[in-house]
Amino acid sequence: MIMSSILLGAALTIASCSTSSDNGTSTGDASVEQGFKIGLLLPESKTTRYETFDKPYMEAKLKELCPKCEVLYQNADQDSAKQQSQAEAMLTQGVKVLILDAVDAKAAGGIVTNAQNQKVPVVAYDRLASGPVNYYVSFDNNKVGQVQGQALLDALSKDGADPKRGDIVMINGSPTDPNAADFKAGAHSVLDGKVNIGQEYDTPDWSPDKAQQEMEQAITAIGRDRVIGVYAANDGTAGGAIAAMKGGGFTTIPPVTGQDAELAAIQRLLTGDQYMTVYKAIKPEAEVAAAMAIAAATGQTYSGESTVMKNNGTKDVTSVLLTPVAVTKDNIKDTVIKDGFYTPAQICTAQFAQACTDAGIS
Ligand code: BGC
Repeated sequence: MIMSSILLGAALTIASCSTSSDNGTSTGDASVEQGFKIGLLLPESKTTRYETFDKPYMEAKLKELCPKCEVLYQNADQDSAKQQSQAEAMLTQGVKVLILDAVDAKAAGGIVTNAQNQKVPVVAYDRLASGPVNYYVSFDNNKVGQVQGQALLDALSKDGADPKRGDIVMINGSPTDPNAADFKAGAHSVLDGKVNIGQEYDTPDWSPDKAQQEMEQAITAIGRDRVIGVYAANDGTAGGAIAAMKGGGFTTIPPVTGQDAELAAIQRLLTGDQYMTVYKAIKPEAEVAAAMAIAAATGQTYSGESTVMKNNGTKDVTSVLLTPVAVTKDNIKDTVIKDGFYTPAQICTAQFAQACTDAGIS
């Protein structure tokens, strides 16, 4: 009798271990020696990072950590229902882990629960999906917003200028992306009370075209001469806002923020069309995700970069949060070039050759 209850206790311990959410929900039959299928789901392709950096960096690291693994990749083109069916198809094809950058973090909770029911662990990538996710890797997204807000405030206060001499326009990201809420909160924490916010928008789908329309409306509402700066949450929306100002007859473009260090944005920094962007080193982000995915699929505990706990409304998720860096014309060389994100040749095409020389880049 005593013996059997000890055995029962041991069996329960093993069972609870293998379903423990932080150690992965894997069935335990995935092994690096034999290889297995890994599903990678990215949210959109208008922002250049996903196809240019996230996907290739992730694939390279997964190949290195698990040479026999196969990566199934899908991009949802900003369509939440499409992402749901992409995930279902991957589960049907027998993936042993999902790396998920959610279009809509709440809706993606369904994907996470489905995966969980099939004992497939989920690594939330860049955007924290709801549901019982196993791991999360991203940047400190509130900090991203603070860095953007501070850069804009500094630019507006340059040489003792009054940052309340006119209005700024705030063009935030998509309301379905929890990162967008963090960027917005971080920016407000710096800007509120220090500047006049004339108009503010949340931009569905992070669409650059919608950002352009929002900026056109803002110019009409505020008046061209009163617009002294633009908080744009990323480089795509910054591009839309700048196009609206150029189309609206601005002779000089006031300071505009951004994020992602897209090549077009770095070139706009050089010509003065955009004031700043945020460089987020995507290589370590993708590499941490790859390591988390392999650990979760094989029933191991991730032990790499130092982790923090971040709550996603369902649970506290073991997370790695990396540090964002502000980039202006003055530190392009010391950031994105130094890090090998771009070569000078990629940035300094014929049209930007002079600006590159002036900035000491070529
Ligand atoms: C990412 C940004 C990106 C935006 C639009 C956010 O979740 O963190 O890097 O610009 O989505 O895709």
